[in-house]
Amino acid sequence: MAVARIDLGSVSRPAGVRVVARAQSHIPAIAAAFNRGDVAESTLYHLPRSHVALSAGYEGGRRHRTIRNFTILRHKSVVGVCSLFAPAFAGVQLAIAIFDAASRGLGVGRFAVSTLCDVAFDELHAGRVELGTYPDNHAAIRCYEACGFSREALLRSSIYHNGAWRDLLWMAHVR
Ligand SMILES: CC(C)(COP(=O)(O)OP(=O)(O)OC[C@H]1O[C@@H](n2cnc3c(N)ncnc32)[C@H](O)[C@@H]1OP(=O)(O)O)[C@@H](O)C(=O)NCCC(=O)NCCS
Repeated sequence: MAVARIDLGSVSRPAGVRVVARAQSHIPAIAAAFNRGDVAESTLYHLPRSHVALSAGYEGGRRHRTIRNFTILRHKSVVGVCSLFAPAFAGVQLAIAIFDAASRGLGVGRFAVSTLCDVAFDELHAGRVELGTYPDNHAAIRCYEACGFSREALLRSSIYHNGAWRDLLWMAHVR
């Protein structure tokens, strides 16, 4: 499907897509998407995500700045989430999920990940952005590599998901 793109330099922004600071008004759509199982196959989160837990995370992040939560909007609808938060190892950690399957594979992830890397490097003055993904999540790995991430380690049997212990591919983007 052809998608109009607005050129922002190194990364194109798919038309109608914005990455905005999370608002309380986004939480019902986010909770519903997690709990419908839209990203259950590939998320590292425990599901379900309660409205209360998501709201508490939102409030805590807003007050203490320990987590920077963003919402991905496409034509004003909530299509995904992305965040920067305390790292497992060093720098800041990034997570992203695009709920709407029709919004995947259009460059939305690439745009959101590179936007968050700019926030991490330029505003938070982090020297490193890290993340974990399942080694068979080829779309995610391709998206991260396009944004400058490299594979660092395979954390074996590190997360219990879908009834089995799964490996996690650890990746980082270092400025
Ligand atoms: C992973 C995710 C964030 C990527 O965002 P996206 O908007 O779909 O990604 P982009 O369109 O920017 O880039 C995806 C790339 O992977 C490619 N791709 C898609 N499916 C693929 C597959 N099965 N195998 C290999 N590459 C694939 C696309 O062609 C694109 O590469 P290209 O631009 O060079 O053509 C998004 O798909 C998503 O949220 N998926 C569900 C939840 C998830 O997996 N979150 C990440 C957990 S670590």
